[in-house]
Amino acid sequence: MRDLGTTEPAPGFSQIRYLLAKRTVDDRALNNHVWNSLRTALTDSRASRFRVLEIGAGIGTMIERMLDWGLFEDIFERTQSLGAQREVGVDLTAIDPDAACLAEARRRLAHCPWACATDGRLELRGPHALLNIEFNQAGYEEFACRWANGARWNLVMANAVLDLVDLQHALPVILSLLEPDGLFYFTINFDGDTVLLPVIDEEFDGLIYELYHATMDRRSNKWMAAGSRAGRLLFSCLRTLRAEIVDVGPSDWVVFSSGGRYPHDEAYFLHCLVTIIARALTGHTRLDPDRFSDWIALRHDQIDRGELTLVSHQLDFVGRASGRM
Ligand SMILES: C[S@@+](CC[C@H](N)C(=O)[O-])C[C@H]1O[C@@H](n2cnc3c(N)ncnc32)[C@H](O)[C@@H]1O
Repeated sequence: MRDLGTTEPAPGFSQIRYLLAKRTVDDRALNNHVWNSLRTALTDSRASRFRVLEIGAGIGTMIERMLDWGLFEDIFERTQSLGAQREVGVDLTAIDPDAACLAEARRRLAHCPWACATDGRLELRGPHALLNIEFNQAGYEEFACRWANGARWNLVMANAVLDLVDLQHALPVILSLLEPDGLFYFTINFDGDTVLLPVIDEEFDGLIYELYHATMDRRSNKWMAAGSRAGRLLFSCLRTLRAEIVDVGPSDWVVFSSGGRYPHDEAYFLHCLVTIIARALTGHTRLDPDRFSDWIALRHDQIDRGELTLVSHQLDFVGRASGRM
């Protein structure tokens, strides 16, 4: 099951609140083994000034996570132990076509206790870290055009984004932004399995998932999104581009209540997903309209009662581009 890349998932729902609610769901879901493989690969990197590009950065929750989970600590320590006189650190470029999300990312990160310069860039300077963040309102296509002959990045990342795009078109463009042997970290890539519990009617539930996944595959009239098969498609697309897959692991969303309550704002996250399904399938010729609207209403009621559980299968990838693309 996947959310949309648009500003408002549905009337009355805030994309910003939705992405914030998603943060704790992603925190649990992101694959630890794959994260540690990324850390190891970063530790091995010899770059003196490390450049990171985040595609579809949203409201900046992955940047906060990278800081909270100490992703760059080894780089900061290594560069400091080299006794470099000049300042060393990480330059991070966060891009997203959604201006409201990027403004929120900037606002949130500016509240970080380390934030000490807030002109065009944001600088986070701590005892063991120096992170320069630049925000850029652009989709990957436009951004790559602007940088066609420019500098390259040491790491490119995208969280919950690649299932929204035409993977066969996007991947060569995205990997072309990397230095030779640069790293990629592509996470929360939906991979074809949605389960909502309790089952209402096995056959009708199954039909809804099938039709919903089909809508994910066709994001516009012009192109096919990787959509419901992004996770498995990444294997073949990366191999076609001769990229080295270093590690892969599941990053399933599992949202459930304990004692009748969902953690943090995860009930809102579930309401958004049910609303997105409703919006995608209302009026579908293969669904009886009354039965479908009852199904949607019942799912919202289940969330309000703390009864709904979601399992959504996804995959995380870390790897290396091969030479200059
Ligand atoms: C589901 S959100 C994920 C946001 C963030 N990575 C996170 O995990 O919270 C998908 C994001 O991809 C962005 N997006 C959609 N199409 C894009 C494109 N062509 N290039 C870059 N970002 C895109 C959307 O604006 C949205 O912020």
